[in-house]
Amino acid sequence: MTDLAARFRKLWDELAPVGRDERSGGYLRYALTEPELWLRNWFREQAEHRGMPVTGDGNGNLFAWWGDPQAGAAVLTGSHFDSVPHGGAYDGPLGIVSAFLAVDELRAAGVAPSRSVAVGAFVEEEGARFGVPCLGSRLLSGALSLERAAELRDADGVSFAEALGDRPTGADAGLLGRFAAFVELHVEQGRALVEQDAPVAVASAIWPHGRWRFDFHGEGNHAGTTRMADRRDPMLTYAFTVLAANKEARLRGAHATVGRVRVEPNATNAIPSRVTGWLDARAAEPETLHGLVDAVHVKAAERAKRDGTELTLTEESATPLVAFDGGLADRLARLLDAPVLPTGAGHDAGVLAAHLPTAMLFVRNPTGVSHSPAESATDADCAAGVTALARVLEELACR
Ligand code: GLV
Ligand code: MN
Ligand code: MN
Ligand code: MN
Repeated sequence: MTDLAARFRKLWDELAPVGRDERSGGYLRYALTEPELWLRNWFREQAEHRGMPVTGDGNGNLFAWWGDPQAGAAVLTGSHFDSVPHGGAYDGPLGIVSAFLAVDELRAAGVAPSRSVAVGAFVEEEGARFGVPCLGSRLLSGALSLERAAELRDADGVSFAEALGDRPTGADAGLLGRFAAFVELHVEQGRALVEQDAPVAVASAIWPHGRWRFDFHGEGNHAGTTRMADRRDPMLTYAFTVLAANKEARLRGAHATVGRVRVEPNATNAIPSRVTGWLDARAAEPETLHGLVDAVHVKAAERAKRDGTELTLTEESATPLVAFDGGLADRLARLLDAPVLPTGAGHDAGVLAAHLPTAMLFVRNPTGVSHSPAESATDADCAAGVTALARVLEELACR
């Protein structure tokens, strides 16, 4: 094992038990809950240990500075700590751990950047607690209003402000204006790098995507005594809609997933009164995405008529197509001799790309699996990621 891979492993092992569910082997690191607060504290300690002052932005995002936080034209790197339910270890934390190690690499090599470098930890990237992905970067950039943020509640009815301990402060053009570029390193969430036999890639684009909540209302009633002809069963409309989403996505070469469902009252011997399903839909082009969601909506509404149920559709979040700065991606791909790939996954980099030159690096994932305990990366590839990130930071912060 190289020295860098060993240093990666040592730091990585500090995080390994935090929020890990022994049964699934996955992580439950929801934003601003105990495990994520532990990780945020760890972030502060790592920064302090490196003599990097930490600032917050009033929205729950943290920044550790190598250099003057006020100087402007800083290079930002980092990612998020929070996970999806039973998520993998790498999605998020890899970008933060790699950022600290990249700073260590540059310092050990005697590199003295002419710009400040900031390591960022963004809050609620997955949207697993409050429903809106990239909540921290959306607030910071103004992509989500404070009014909308004030409506967000977790499953226990706790508001984002309550979880944060204060009302979020929202868009901060002054802070954003102090960054000249953002680079997010992330574990790959597919197998392109395995197929291309490369440890690291540069991102070209993020597919447009969003979350749509389908509420199917029917009539709760007795499972044993209600004649089949008399039922208004929203589970039927829901089940039909899931199949329709799958079919419409396949027809279009798009992606549709219903990974979350809520059934009320959720009793084996009761016809549900209400079923709520969340559709996650993604496609390479916005027209395809909207065509898909419209088609699913039309089919679900037709089916609801047949079932005697009612349907309401709510768009919970939408992320437009992100084309990362092409000049920057090409420059980094040449610097690293790395392939360039699009992705269907959302990232804070996708939100910030609307405001500053932004790039992403992906680190090979041998399983290709993500948002699951099976997500993985070798220590050697993680070390290659740190080396690549250090080269990128040097390129952007020294020239
Ligand atoms: C976030 O990881 C997403 O793309 O869902
Ligand atoms: Mn994720
Ligand atoms: Mn992520
Ligand atoms: Mn993500």
